[in-house]
Amino acid sequence: MIQGRKVGIIGAGAVGATAAFSLAVMGTCKEIVLFDIAEGVAQGKAIDIAQATHFSTKPTLITAADTPADVKNCDIVVVTAGVPRKGDMTREDLLMINAKIIKSVTEDIMKYSPNAIIISVSNPLDVMTYAIHKITGWDSNRIIGMAGALDGSRMAYQIRKKLGFGAARVGALVIGDHGENMIPLPQKANIGDVPLSDLLSKEEMEDIIERTKNGGAEIVGHLKTSGYYGPGRAIAFMVEAILNDSKAVVSASVLLDGEYGHSDVCVGVPVVLGAKGVERIIEMNLDDTLKEKFKASVNTVTSGIDVLKNNTFFN
Ligand code: APR
Repeated sequence: MIQGRKVGIIGAGAVGATAAFSLAVMGTCKEIVLFDIAEGVAQGKAIDIAQATHFSTKPTLITAADTPADVKNCDIVVVTAGVPRKGDMTREDLLMINAKIIKSVTEDIMKYSPNAIIISVSNPLDVMTYAIHKITGWDSNRIIGMAGALDGSRMAYQIRKKLGFGAARVGALVIGDHGENMIPLPQKANIGDVPLSDLLSKEEMEDIIERTKNGGAEIVGHLKTSGYYGPGRAIAFMVEAILNDSKAVVSASVLLDGEYGHSDVCVGVPVVLGAKGVERIIEMNLDDTLKEKFKASVNTVTSGIDVLKNNTFFN
C-alpha cells in the first residue's frame, strides 16, 4: 500500500480542479497539492475546495503550491497543464506548444516527485503520454494516459440513454486514440451482465459508436468549452484504483511493447490498475475489422509523435 497518499495536480484549470474536488469529496487521499502557472488560480481553487471538504466524511488537506518545487514527494501526479487551441493555431502548433509545457512539467516531476506515478491528461493525450515516457525514461507502468475511462463513461451514458435501466451496472469499453479514430466497442459492452448485443439492434449499436465519438464535441457545442466533470471524475477514479490497489480494469493510454502487434506508441487499451500503476495490459481478441481500426488509431498517434521527432523535440 502506498504511504502518505499525496496527489499533486499540475494545471488547476477546469479539469485539474474538478479532479481535486472529486478526490476531496471521496476522501481518497490524505493530501492534494495544486499548482498552476496562472497566478492565483491554484491558490483560489485550493481554498474553495478545502472549504468544501468540511462536509466530507474523511479529511483531506488541500494546498496550493507557489512553485513547481512545492509539488514534492507525491505518490501520484496528475498533469492537466496545457493551453486550448486558439483560432489561428494549427493542430501542429498546439501540439508543439503543449509538448513544451509537458516537457518542463515532467522535468519538475522527475526532480520533486521522483517516485510518483504520472496520470497524463493534457491533449493531444496519447502523444503527450508518449512524450512523458520518453522524457522520464521511467518504467512504463508508471505513466498512464487518462482517456479511455472518460470515453467509456461517455459510451455508458449513451447506453443508459437508450435503455434507461437506471441502476444497472454498465460495462463500456473504448480503445484506440483519444480522438477521431477512437474505437467504442458496444459489441463487447454489457448492462447488468446482459450483453448489449442482446438488447440493441445493429443500427442502435452503430448510433452509440457515433454518439460516443462525438461525446466531447457535443458538450463543447453547448458550453463553448470542453467538459470537466466527466474528465475530473475519470481521473479521480484512476487515482482511487492506484491508491486503493483495487486492480480495476479500465481503458488507458499506455506504452505498447508488442501488445496488439504494436510497439513504441501510446494508445488506449484495457489495463489493470493497482498500486504499481499499470499492472497488466489486457490483450483482447480483435477481429480483422477491429485490427484495421486499431491500426488506423495507432497511425494517428504515430503521426503526432513524428511531428515531435521532426521538430527535434527528443534531441
Ligand atoms: N504549469 C502549470 N500549469 C500550467 C502550465 C504550466 N507550465 N501551462 C498551462 N497551465 C495551466 C493553465 O494556466 C490552466 O489553468 O493549465 C490549466 C489548463 O486548464 P484549462 O485551460 O481550464 O483546461 P482544462 O479544460 O482543464 O483542460 C486541461 O486536459 O482534457 C485536456 O484538452 C484538455 O489539454 C487540456 C487539459
